[in-house]
Amino acid sequence: MQSTQAAQIELDGVTHAYRLADGLLPVLENVSFGIQKFGFTAVVGPSGCGKSTLTRLIAGLIPPDAGEIRLAGEIVTSPRPTVGMAFQNPVMLEWRTVLGNIILPLEIVASSMPQAQREDRARELLELVSLQGFEDKRPSELSGGMRQRVSLCRALVHEPEVLILDEPFGALDAFTREDLWGIMHRLRRKKPFTCLLITHDLRESVFLSDDVIVLSDRPAKIQYSTSVDLGDERTLEDLYSSETTELLAVLRHQIEIAQRRAPAGNGAES
Ligand SMILES: Nc1ncnc2c1ncn2[C@@H]1O[C@H](COP(=O)(O)OP(=O)(O)OP(=O)(O)O)[C@@H](O)[C@H]1O
Ligand SMILES: [Mg+2]
Repeated sequence: MQSTQAAQIELDGVTHAYRLADGLLPVLENVSFGIQKFGFTAVVGPSGCGKSTLTRLIAGLIPPDAGEIRLAGEIVTSPRPTVGMAFQNPVMLEWRTVLGNIILPLEIVASSMPQAQREDRARELLELVSLQGFEDKRPSELSGGMRQRVSLCRALVHEPEVLILDEPFGALDAFTREDLWGIMHRLRRKKPFTCLLITHDLRESVFLSDDVIVLSDRPAKIQYSTSVDLGDERTLEDLYSSETTELLAVLRHQIEIAQRRAPAGNGAES
């Protein structure tokens, strides 16, 4: 997980502060890590430490104050069409069908692609997330889990090299969340991408990723990182093995340390 030239996502000494009316709010401090092509890294850390800020930086939506972010070796200075994103509460256009919402990114980044080809791509993804037959539904007709599956299809429809997920399953009940984890594995096998996942759920971080990074409280630094050696064919039962239970205990302890270190009254609250 060290930053190398071959990594698909590389952060090198990334530092960022927000400018508030009463001064600077340092959020990220000297954050460096790399994710290899088709790798999957999860980032966990205390609420308000800077995880979403990290995703906005990697997506090129805001620039770092110091340090460098590179995607496939190129410094990120603005949003890239090679990146897909999904968030906790997906925003969908109610006046469009499920299919119409999924193909939206293609209308922007692949405007010359024939409509039939766009729709074929969307249908293929809908099948992968077990939502075939829902093409013509409106977003309001979907459950939370279904919306999130549609949101994943939309994030992947333009076949991005990099997928950034910011707590995509955070609002779902435990069973639906576990279903989505299985779907993520399936998507990853069929349509490989390099992924950065932000989550509050340690089991989720372990089940889905190759590496887990624990951020300290704000200004966030990398406090701890570990690899997850569960292989590609992992099942939910693997989460109850003695090795995984031990790993989860270590991660929980690291989160406690991160929270205990929280300095009181340090700027704006999240
Ligand atoms: N646009 C902004 N302007 C000013 N301050 C901001 C802005 N966005 C976030 N912040 C502040 O930066 C800090 C980090 O916010 P961020 O959303 O990155 O945290 P987070 O780790 O994603 O939190 P959570 O786990 O609750 O989602 C918080 O103190 C937040 O109030
Ligand atoms: Mg956040």
